[in-house]
Amino acid sequence: MLGQLLHASGIDSIIVERKDRAYVLARIRAGVLEQGTVDLLDSVGVAARLHRESLIHDGLEIAFGGVRHRIDLKAATGKTVTVYGQTEVTRDLVDARDALGLASIFEAEDVSLHDLQTDRPKVRFKRHGVGQEIDCDFIAGCDGFHGVSRASVPATAISIFEREYPFGWLGILADTPPVSDELIYTNHPRGFALCSMRSPTRSRYYLQCTLDDHVENWPDERFWEELKRRLEDEAAARLVTGPSIEKSIAPLRSFVAEPMRFGRLFLAGDAAHIVPPTGAKGLNLAASDVHYLNEALREFYADKSAAALESYSQRALSRIWRAERFSWWMTSVLHRFPGTDAFSQRIQDAELDYLISSRAAVTALAENYVGLPY
Ligand code: DHB
Repeated sequence: MLGQLLHASGIDSIIVERKDRAYVLARIRAGVLEQGTVDLLDSVGVAARLHRESLIHDGLEIAFGGVRHRIDLKAATGKTVTVYGQTEVTRDLVDARDALGLASIFEAEDVSLHDLQTDRPKVRFKRHGVGQEIDCDFIAGCDGFHGVSRASVPATAISIFEREYPFGWLGILADTPPVSDELIYTNHPRGFALCSMRSPTRSRYYLQCTLDDHVENWPDERFWEELKRRLEDEAAARLVTGPSIEKSIAPLRSFVAEPMRFGRLFLAGDAAHIVPPTGAKGLNLAASDVHYLNEALREFYADKSAAALESYSQRALSRIWRAERFSWWMTSVLHRFPGTDAFSQRIQDAELDYLISSRAAVTALAENYVGLPY
C-alpha cells in the first residue's frame, strides 16, 4: 500500500521482502476493511476487483446467553464495512506494482539496516547468496512484528507497552456458504466464536482455544461440532460444514512500540503495534499508518519540510492507541478468561447487556468498528 501511495506521490521505493512471492500471495489474514482503507485503495486505483467481489456489510451480530443481537452499523454511524480478504488486497497491490514495473525484491536473506541516524541509511541483504546494498533517503519498516526493523532500534530508544491474553484463536477457512449474511461474534461459556466469511461461498470461522493447543488436535469434525455447541440454536442448525482448506492457531496480543521513528527509520503496521484480532483492526491500522507516512514523505520532498515526518509517530500513535483500546475491549467482553471469578463474570454479563440495550453503547461500538477518522 505504501509503495503505491509513494508512487502516486512521485517518490521511488524498493520493496524488500524475506519470503517468496507465492508465500506472500497465499497467506490468510483478516477480512474486514474500514471505509478509510477502501478509500486509500481507491485513491491509487487498486480497488476495481474489490468493488466487483467484496461484500458490503451494514451490520453485525453479537450473541450471548443463547440470543443474537444485531448491531446496525449503518444506522448508528452512516457507514458500512467491506468484507474482502487481506489476501486479495495483497494480490491486487502486488499485481498493480508489477504492472507499473516497480521494484520488488522477494526472498531477501539476512536483511540488516545501517546508518539509521544519518541522512543516508542503508539496507543490506543477500539474495541467492549474493550480498547487495541499497542506499536510501528513508527506510519504512513495514516488516511485521518479527521483522528486522523494530529489532534494529536500540532498546534504550524505544518503549514497549504490552498485554498477552490467556487464549488463542483457532481459525478455519472452508468452501461452504457462510452461516449468516453478517458476522456473528459469540460469547459462550465454552469460549468465544466468530462466524465470518470471504464470499457467498467461502466461510471463515474462529474458536477461542487454549494457548498450548495445536491444529492437529482439531480434525474438521471436532471443529464443526465445537462451533455448533457455541452458536445459538438457529445458527447452529443452519451451519453448513465441509472440509477445511486452511486451519491455524494464533495467539492474541496487544503491543505498542513508541516512538515509531528512529532517525531515518519509520515503523508502520505490525512492526510497531499488534492488536488482538477481535474487531479486525490490524490491517486497517497499517493502512492509516502508511497514509500518514506517505503524506509526511510527500511533504518532505515537495515542500522541503520535515515537520510532518517529525510528527508522524505522534499522529499515528494517537489513532493506534484508540484502536488498541477498542480491540482490547472487544476481546475482553467477548472471550471467557480462565480463572475468572463470579464477580468478574457478572460484570462481563452486565457489559454485554448494557451494550445491546443502550444506544450510546451501540454507537460507541459501531463508530470504532467502522473505523475512527484519519
Ligand atoms: C475476521 C477476523 C476478525 O478478527 C474479525 O474481527 C472479523 C473478521 C475475518 O478473518 O474474517
